[in-house]
Amino acid sequence: PEVFLPQRGNAIGFDLAHTPTLQAIDAARDPFKDHQWQSGPLLAVEAKPEAATAVVNPADPALSPGEVRNASKADVNAALDHAAPWDAPLATRRDVLLKAAALIEDNYGEIFALLAREAGKGLPDCVAELREGVDFLRYYAGQATNMPPAGIFTCISPWNFPMAIFVGQISAALAAGNAVLAKPAEQTPLVAHVTVSLLHKAGVPRSALQLLPGGGAVGAALTSDPRIGGVAFTGSTATAMRIRAAMADHCAPGTPLIAETGGLNAMIVDSTALPEQAVQAIVESAFQSAGQRCSALRCLYVQEDIAEDLTKMLIGAMEALKMGDPWQLSTDVGPVIDAQARKGITDHIEAARNGGRVLAEIKAPTDGTFVAPTIIRVNGIADLEREIFGPVLHLATFKSHELDDVIDAINGTGYGLTFGLHTRIDDRVQHVSERIEAGNVYINRNQIGAIVGSQPFGGEGLSGTGPKAGGPNYLPRFSAPDHKSLNG
Ligand code: NAD
Ligand code: ALA
Repeated sequence: PEVFLPQRGNAIGFDLAHTPTLQAIDAARDPFKDHQWQSGPLLAVEAKPEAATAVVNPADPALSPGEVRNASKADVNAALDHAAPWDAPLATRRDVLLKAAALIEDNYGEIFALLAREAGKGLPDCVAELREGVDFLRYYAGQATNMPPAGIFTCISPWNFPMAIFVGQISAALAAGNAVLAKPAEQTPLVAHVTVSLLHKAGVPRSALQLLPGGGAVGAALTSDPRIGGVAFTGSTATAMRIRAAMADHCAPGTPLIAETGGLNAMIVDSTALPEQAVQAIVESAFQSAGQRCSALRCLYVQEDIAEDLTKMLIGAMEALKMGDPWQLSTDVGPVIDAQARKGITDHIEAARNGGRVLAEIKAPTDGTFVAPTIIRVNGIADLEREIFGPVLHLATFKSHELDDVIDAINGTGYGLTFGLHTRIDDRVQHVSERIEAGNVYINRNQIGAIVGSQPFGGEGLSGTGPKAGGPNYLPRFSAPDHKSLNG
């Protein structure tokens, strides 16, 4: 097959410390501040969607950004009937995906506005999300080959990266020549609609890319049909297991499921770590994006000798965080995605408070679905019964001789997504990195924000099937099973 080297240039993004750049962003976002968007199925044939419902703005439920008409059962069936693999020449497919990346960058003002209004994303997160989305498009375009496609690929994504992960899955499936049925999360159909419209505008045929907004029922219908040639899923481990069972019952044996799921991510800070560096990394890892990253830090282990001082510094840094409207650059922590998510998180905090285990929390706004960054004292990671998907950090201490027990406990959760280590002992870096079972290991830095092409991202165990997104082994999984080995 014709082979291209992956394009390695990443988007340069925006320098938010540069006043003229900020003014340009404001000017680009402003026309969309009160815009009302519409989302609905974008099919190869006319859609017959469900009735319209309002999309919720998590920061201000009174200010809906628009409406969605979800895909009906008839729409799912029509999309499956009319899906056609993208048989354009390889060079055309690459050019169209590169054009889509450029169009998405050109429309950043609308996308930033939507990410703030629909997903509650602050400006730094908007910049990171746009960069990651276009990086995926360019990276997979650069890797596209003439291998036979798997056929119809269902792509199901979560609300926490409603553009980047959404377009990452789609661009990989399209680069491999598949027909894509894209189902965004039910909370974020508007940014999905804008993104798919830009891909169509760039030249992706409607039969090769159809959008089917909806919830779990639409996702279930799109993963339990014998016409499906593969599924790319990112979301919770529980949903991935449901999809695996549905595919086993309904799809051809060997139909690929690429699942990127949740984590119980830990960080170890030993007494040789640089405290200021560790505190900054902890705050970013636990509270950026309101803790709503699969990569986010959930359980921090601090060596006992420095625990008191480090905790004081950490609480000080946490108290400086500003919560509020994600539209404002001064905001550090925005809302969580919806009322149901907030209830799950605040119930967990309440139980800890009743047990006298809340070490620190800051005050949250009362409008919108905000949860205050909180630190909860635990004995160890085994105390975490589930992934708390919000700005909640669990803190445990350990003695020097307990390091291997801590690693065993972290590995014992069965998850293995991200892990962080802060130490100045080289042998310890070596020892811990070799023993820890996690997809992405970060040393002396934060543990979020993997860069496409440089830091392929994905977990092991309950955190995902692999291969890692944004890495060289991802695209071959989107080809027909018999040809995978040739492609890798
Ligand atoms: P979720 O599992 O509730 O939903 C994810 C998607 O699956 C949504 O589009 C949803 O509509 C769909 N879905 C729900 N039920 C379905 C079914 N039965 N069949 C098919 N599709 C179905 O997850 P979420 O709450 O949207 O996202 C948060 C989770 O995603 C967290 O666990 C987080 O760790 C994980 N996540 C993982 C990664 C990663 O790369 N590993 C990245 C982002 C988020
Ligand atoms: N790729 C995202 C991160 O690394 C999930 O935070």
